Amino acid sequence: MSIMYSCSVPSFTSISVSNFTYRRPHRIICSAGAPVAERKAVNTTEPLLLNAVRGEDVERPPVWLMRQAGRYMKSYQTLCEKHPSFRERSENVDLVVEISLQPWKVFKPDGVILFSDILTPLPGMNIPFDIVKGKGPIIFDPISTAAQVDQVREFTPEEWVPYVGEALSILRKEVNNEAAVLGFVGAPFTLASYVVEGGSSKNFTKIKTLAFSQPKVLHALLEKFTTSMAKYIKYQADNGAQAVQIFDSWATELSPADFEEFSLPYLKAIVDSVKETHPDLPLILYASGSGGLLERLALTGVDVVSLDWTVDMAEGRKRLGSEIAVQGNVDPGVLFGSKEFISKRIIDTVKKAGNKKHILNLGHGIKVGTPEENVAHFFEVAKGLSY
Ligand code: CP3
Repeated sequence: MSIMYSCSVPSFTSISVSNFTYRRPHRIICSAGAPVAERKAVNTTEPLLLNAVRGEDVERPPVWLMRQAGRYMKSYQTLCEKHPSFRERSENVDLVVEISLQPWKVFKPDGVILFSDILTPLPGMNIPFDIVKGKGPIIFDPISTAAQVDQVREFTPEEWVPYVGEALSILRKEVNNEAAVLGFVGAPFTLASYVVEGGSSKNFTKIKTLAFSQPKVLHALLEKFTTSMAKYIKYQADNGAQAVQIFDSWATELSPADFEEFSLPYLKAIVDSVKETHPDLPLILYASGSGGLLERLALTGVDVVSLDWTVDMAEGRKRLGSEIAVQGNVDPGVLFGSKEFISKRIIDTVKKAGNKKHILNLGHGIKVGTPEENVAHFFEVAKGLSY
């Protein structure tokens, strides 16, 4: 069924969508020309984000932004001066809670994501790393042999990252169901890419050397990450995470056939394992530049596919169908534009996503240097929307 949407606003505002102007603090109403599916009653005791993912009838899309805690925020910069080490900031309960709550206090997003990193579990798997300002992640002993893979340990979260569980449970109390507390993990292929490349990579030649000359070695590493990340997701859920996002940021460096060999089966194994013990925990999957892989991302069995901005939201929605929820997908670069432009892009994305099963977000993380007031504007407009 094709859906016709029109956005209108109460007559007392000056907002028009075709020729957009925005005046605070009026509400923008987006109405569906035809209903998508039978309306379900809203569960008002649960965070909006969870209701939206379950396909309930919500009044607007929930909104949170990837990397909403970070260097673009003045409060984070101040904290970095006192605590210059990323590992300290992300491995100390009080700091993790404080940083996770910085965007919550200022913007009141519908999702509060744990401040951590996809690489945080690595030392617990016997893979030491650091994150150095200006250089990014550094893996001290990059993996390239079967003997090194043998040395990789299975992750026991309660032993290695107890601060994650503690921080999540404190966040649940602080946020008090006014927003969903979100956990996250790195996907096996993306973690392997850091561990094999030794850090961030442009060409991914080392992991491709391994994949295409010693695939068994890479598969053995991917298997270890799969077991460990399934465990880690369950640990986060047991300690308070109400939804968990899986970042397979670099899976799209693989051709579709190679994605089917080196990423998809592992993602699916994680989803299957988590669904067995935590059937109601929403899982969100993000891959950057995922246009060529969208349908394959849905095959993993996740509840939400997070689209990057190179996919048109209406086309993405059509390709994925109405059963699965979508997240995204405003270009993070839009936050460098004018306020009017930001508003226009938000409304465009929301109209294209339809009035169900959409979490409004960016297509990737907020960039360093993004004006904080533009992030505030993004949340203000998003929270003023009404279907
Ligand atoms: O979304 C959030 O607000 C939660 C915080 C979060 C961080 N990393 C904090 C962080 C999340 C969700 C991540 C995930 C992560 N880490 C991913 C997947 C998301 C994506 O971007 O695709 C990846 C690929 C990493 C690996 C990583 N960690 C990179 C590439 C960098 C940037 C290096 C740099 O110097 O800029 C990091 C460090 C990092 N993790 C920062 C933050 C806020 C920046 C460093 C800092 O603040 O000191």
